[in-house]
Amino acid sequence: MTLDSWFTTNRTRCEADLFDLLRIASVSADRAYRTDVNRAAEWVHNALAGLKFETELVETAGNPIIFAKSPPVPGAPTALVYGHYDVQPPDPLDQWISPPFEPTVRDGNVYARGATDDKGQMLTHIKSAQAWIETAGTLPINLTYVIEGEEEVGSESLEPFIAANRERLACDCVVISDSSQFAPGQPAITYGLRGILYLELRLSGFKQDLHSGTFGGGVTNPANALCQMLASLVDANGRIQVPGFYDDVVPLSDQERKAFASLGFNEQEFCQQLGVDGLSGEAGFTNLERRWARPTCDINGIWGGYQGEGPKTVLPAKAGAKFSFRLVPNQDPKKILAAVKQHLEKICPPGIRMELIEYHGGAGVLVPLDSPYMAAASQAITRGFGRKPVMIREGGSIPIVATLREQLGADTLLLGWGLNDDNTHSPNEKFCLEDYHRGIKASAYLWEELAKIMRKSITNGK
Ligand code: BES
Ligand code: ZN
Repeated sequence: MTLDSWFTTNRTRCEADLFDLLRIASVSADRAYRTDVNRAAEWVHNALAGLKFETELVETAGNPIIFAKSPPVPGAPTALVYGHYDVQPPDPLDQWISPPFEPTVRDGNVYARGATDDKGQMLTHIKSAQAWIETAGTLPINLTYVIEGEEEVGSESLEPFIAANRERLACDCVVISDSSQFAPGQPAITYGLRGILYLELRLSGFKQDLHSGTFGGGVTNPANALCQMLASLVDANGRIQVPGFYDDVVPLSDQERKAFASLGFNEQEFCQQLGVDGLSGEAGFTNLERRWARPTCDINGIWGGYQGEGPKTVLPAKAGAKFSFRLVPNQDPKKILAAVKQHLEKICPPGIRMELIEYHGGAGVLVPLDSPYMAAASQAITRGFGRKPVMIREGGSIPIVATLREQLGADTLLLGWGLNDDNTHSPNEKFCLEDYHRGIKASAYLWEELAKIMRKSITNGK
């Protein structure tokens, strides 16, 4: 059987397997889902073991990591496939049209938590290997898989695993599908991701809540202090006000700005998709520049004071917020943390005790555009999707990409099969099934294209 006929005859089976994995509620943020997290790890482990790969379910202090290697193909390059089987919490549940862990097909999309981020995308690289094994009996290259279960909470266990297994993980390039195409019908290769620093600020004041008439105006209200402190982080022009914040930011080149502009991003359609009547952000930058290549600060959650029905004249004793910075390549999350801490401590008003908690940090990345691996990926996507990919950056973060570069010296091919309206991290997450199948094809062709460039460099005497 040829690869192409395998794709046709195995469509239903590929979908059924995806739906199986999507039924497992592998939420990493909440320990209540621990059994399901382990079940998802076993599911992925079995899928790779079923291909007769050498596999290991690695127990960690957190969630298991699946490590697998395809049978060795001497002289061929090695690609390391990274993906994650954990998903974000499904709440708010009442906003889902069909339940988050009952995959449901509507209009050619499968709706479920994790459909695109990252179960569906990750699975394309297992299915593509299966296609090769079941047609040619072997793969054209060597594949190493590292599939983790803590990506959505900061990859804490993966970092030491990589550091301790550098030899076993040695590779020519890394392949990750955990991002998006530029638009429906327009595939893309992502060459830049933002970094992140995620924090929580907790403020406490008086011993207990107080009457706002008796005490208001004479004491520092933690909720007021919180608003002032958070507001001090960004000015009205969208510039972050933490001293030293921009020190290591590399300005966008004219060439890159032109390349972004030539992609033809439509702001009106974007507003329509989001249901808003206007946009804002750092002055002097376009929307794509703001989201792909400029650092930002956003509040992710905020609390304090009375939330119940009706009014209550009270001064809350405590208030807090979760907030995060998206960073650009070359900004060091540790340095930014120190700067933010210093800034907040300096402005923290009398009567308030502050606590700053760091959840996770990760550096942004830029991967070289001119590598033979990029050319191979571009060719594979053109074959799988029927259209040449455009080169884009994205605003999300996959901190392990920078770690893999540091620890293994390998660059990553970020090949996103998702779409920007897939509702990742929000209700009604979906993945276009046609893109799932195209992704499987592009991935299968990628193994072949990567093998080709290695053969070329051998015949060139390199
Ligand atoms: N799939 C995303 C990363 C992503 C999002 C890449 C959008 C490109 C565009 C990934 O699963 C994710 O959500 N990562 C977290 C990282 C964090 C928890 C360290 C993120 O970006 O918030
Ligand atoms: Zn995610």
